Amino acid sequence: MGDSLKWTLEISVGDGAIDQEHAEEFELFNRARNAVEAGRPIDLIKADLFRHITIHFRNEEALMDELNLDESAKELHKAQHREFFLRSTEMSSRSDAEFVEFLRQWLIDHIVNGPDRNLARSSS
Ligand SMILES: [Fe+2]
Repeated sequence: MGDSLKWTLEISVGDGAIDQEHAEEFELFNRARNAVEAGRPIDLIKADLFRHITIHFRNEEALMDELNLDESAKELHKAQHREFFLRSTEMSSRSDAEFVEFLRQWLIDHIVNGPDRNLARSSS
């Protein structure tokens, strides 16, 4: 089981509302991770997570449209959001531990090391 995730200022995108949503996603991930570790079901946490992420992607994409971002980078970023739903639906049928590991990797690849970093560069 991978470690918990902690939001830090280093991964700020320069927008308070989006930062808050990212921190909440890490929190939801930690709740799911801890539940799996304790052998508890994660269905309710997953429902919260999908609800949260749906709203978050919409907010983040609205921010992208306000920023002066490269058009192709923006399209690629939005495509990653759509792909998240396809892959997470697929991963939902696997074990909770596999789902949590997928989620952990996705959050790191997307928020910590991926396209969300470009938002920080464009909004600062
Ligand atoms: Fe994103």
